[in-house]
Amino acid sequence: MRQPLVAGNWKMNGTLDSVQALVEGIIAGLGEVQNAEVAVCPPFVYLETVGRMVGHTPIALGAQNVAKEDPGAYTGEIAAPMLTDMGCKYVIVGHSERRNIYGETDTLVAEKYDRGLREGLVPILCVGELLEEREAGKTEEVVARQLDAVIQQVGIGGLGKGVIAYEPVWAIGTGRTATPEQAQDVHAFIRERLYSHDPAVALAIRILYGGSVKGSNAEGLFGMADIDGGLIGGASLDAGEFLAICQAG
Ligand code: PGA
Repeated sequence: MRQPLVAGNWKMNGTLDSVQALVEGIIAGLGEVQNAEVAVCPPFVYLETVGRMVGHTPIALGAQNVAKEDPGAYTGEIAAPMLTDMGCKYVIVGHSERRNIYGETDTLVAEKYDRGLREGLVPILCVGELLEEREAGKTEEVVARQLDAVIQQVGIGGLGKGVIAYEPVWAIGTGRTATPEQAQDVHAFIRERLYSHDPAVALAIRILYGGSVKGSNAEGLFGMADIDGGLIGGASLDAGEFLAICQAG
């Protein structure tokens, strides 16, 4: 039985005050969340504050990115041991904004995944196609390529220690959610592909959906057989909305 995970990706949003208010709001409503594991991924500079606030709650802490290098002379980067030091359990790798705005390649994403894993972090690997790739019928090809790069780096056993988030790029921040059926098709494809490597990993791994998830559409998405929760952007910045999504998990 896979426990659903609902993770809030706050991206580059928030102030010290707003972040504290958001966490207080989430903690206050946590009692209503029955099944899902809840995680929040603040910007790096707020990890310590948020970590202290959620330290005695079941809310897990995650980071949005990690360097592939060990600590050293890498100005502006954040090393994996720093994230565990701050109490992080999860780290997002390969978010489409990292891939498409900052040019992260499949290989770099795989190296970041590997580095996080070696530090004991649970990587949340984001995969997903651009609109033109979907329209060209290349969704499965793209997702397979993104997955294979990580399997090549850490093996199927390494992938099995993480979480996958399928996030169609055309659905991120656009209000244009994939239908539950569209998402389920790709989730089933991912699980089948992993099954051919290792059935136990395929059955146990959590595959989240991300892209314009809201309180109003979460239940339909999370009700699909291969959707094990969500990676939530915009809607995770509102405690009430985020909690409604967590309750659907
Ligand atoms: P969104 O972002 O929920 O704002 O579409 C999802 C994500 O980028 O993880």
